[in-house]
Amino acid sequence: MKSTLNDREKQELIRKALEARRTAYAPYSHFLVGAALLAEDGSFYQGGNIENASYGATNCAERTAVFKAVSDGKHKIRAMAVAGGMEGGDPADYAYPCGICRQVIQEFAAEDMVLIVAKSDADYREFLFKELLPCGFGGESIQ
Ligand code: THU
Repeated sequence: MKSTLNDREKQELIRKALEARRTAYAPYSHFLVGAALLAEDGSFYQGGNIENASYGATNCAERTAVFKAVSDGKHKIRAMAVAGGMEGGDPADYAYPCGICRQVIQEFAAEDMVLIVAKSDADYREFLFKELLPCGFGGESIQ
């Protein structure tokens, strides 16, 4: 696919996702996830997963980042990078957003939003967000 992000923006997003991973609060699963998003106005937001002793109350890293952006008035996401893996090292595999996060991201995704899953700044995969949630349910579905 033809990316709307340049290499510098990609590298910055991945670096920020890996950095955000260090803020994860995951004492139960020990699976640390970091997400970073680039809003349409050029600002970045980061988030880590926030677990809870009542497991279902856990918030994923992607939603932490989205909620931080939206609570700051940023409603359009150009791109997001996600990095996740067991604590104690760099991610061993690509961590894809869960279904709930895909639905939440869709609400604020730009038409050509890019989603990157990264193990490191040199090892990542890039998608159009709509490839990861085809035929999604959005605001236009409720007209
Ligand atoms: N997790 C995320 O942060 N993002 C996802 O898209 C999938 C899962 C977190 C939730 C939980 O804290 C841990 O990973 C294990 O499921």
